Order: sequence, then structure tokens, then C-alpha cells
Amino acid sequence: MTNKKSGKVRVAVNGYGVIGKRVADAVRLQPDMELAGVNDIVSDYRLKTAVVLGIPVYASLPEKAAEMERAGIPVAGNLNDLLEQVDVVADCTPKGITARNLDMYRSAGVKVILQGGEKHSVTGHSFIAGQYEGWTYYFCSSACEQLFALDPDRFLRATPREH
Ligand SMILES: NC(=O)c1ccc[n+]([C@@H]2O[C@H](COP(=O)([O-])OP(=O)(O)OC[C@H]3O[C@@H](n4cnc5c(N)ncnc54)[C@H](O)[C@@H]3O)[C@@H](O)[C@H]2O)c1
Repeated sequence: MTNKKSGKVRVAVNGYGVIGKRVADAVRLQPDMELAGVNDIVSDYRLKTAVVLGIPVYASLPEKAAEMERAGIPVAGNLNDLLEQVDVVADCTPKGITARNLDMYRSAGVKVILQGGEKHSVTGHSFIAGQYEGWTYYFCSSACEQLFALDPDRFLRATPREH
């Protein structure tokens, strides 16, 4: 799905709120990415800002699409239409909705980045960083980070192994 002409990775943002609009802005600043569009369910200033910025707007639900159109927000299609055009989706919807969207993303064959509000079980992995004596250490879960914090030297001396 990468744009064949430009070679850029095509990105969708689902949920254009506090986090989503920042993610969308960040994507638009990357030289190797293109923002294909944003998807949401509201018709207020948030999505009107996207229109002003020239970002295509998509709507999860038909009734929300109609509301958007009535509010003067042109709707390019639904979430499935947007997913068909992208390599990766950044899901910035509220906690719980993200988890429900995961099957749709997998069916569409797109890579997905979830905001930080989901349970470990949703993805099966987590990414935690912590500081110790001026160094940053990365852990597979908060439980491992806490274990490390109890006795860092034990881990820093140890031979790497799975735990
Ligand atoms: N705000 C923060 O500092 C922060 C930091 C880290 C993680 N998060 C997490 O990111 C997520 C989003 O947070 P936020 O602050 O941007 O919330 P927000 O309410 O500002 O934005 C969420 C957006 O998702 C939209 N939305 C709701 N249901 C939807 C659906 N079914 N389909 C498409 N869009 C839908 C909402 O209309 C809204 O525009 C939350 O789960 C939050 O826990 C937030």
C-alpha cells in the first residue's frame, strides 16, 4: 500500500482527539510518511480543524457520517475505506474501543499502533522504560521493571536469559 510514486508509508489515524491530532501532525511532518486520513465519530471543531488542514475525514458509523455532512464536514468514506488505503493505523480512540477495533485492523492486514490505554492482554506485549544510575533500561512489562528496581545489580550481573 506504500505510495508507489512517492515511496511513502501511508498512515491512518483513528480518533482525532487530544492524542490523535498530535499523532496526525507528527505524521504530516515525516518525510517518509503520508497521512491518508483521520477517522472519528464527532462533528465538532476537532474534525473541522482537519478539514481546514486539508486532511480527508472518514466516519466510523453511517449516522455519524450524516451528522458530519450536515455540520459541513465532507466525509471521504468509512473506516474500512480508509484502512484499504494504508499500511498502518494509529488508533487513538478511547480505551476499550481500541481493543474492539483490533480484529478489523487484522482483517484489513494493516499494522496497528495502539495508544497507551489498553490492557497487556490486547496485544500480548508492552514497552516500559526506567532510569537507573543515568542509564535507560527497557522492560517487557511493568512487573519486570518492578523486579529490576528491587535489585538492579542482580540483573546487571546476570547472563541474559528468558524469564
Ligand atoms: N490525553 C493524554 O495525555 C493521553 C496520554 C496517553 C494516552 N492517552 C490515551 O489515548 C486515548 C485517547 O485519548 P485522548 O486524550 O486523545 O481522548 P480524546 O477524547 O481527546 O480523543 C478520542 C477521540 O476518539 C474519538 N472516538 C470515540 N469513539 C470513537 C469511535 N468509535 N471511532 C472513532 N473515533 C472515536 C472521539 O470522538 C475523540 O475525538 C485514551 O485511551 C487515553 O487513555 C491519552
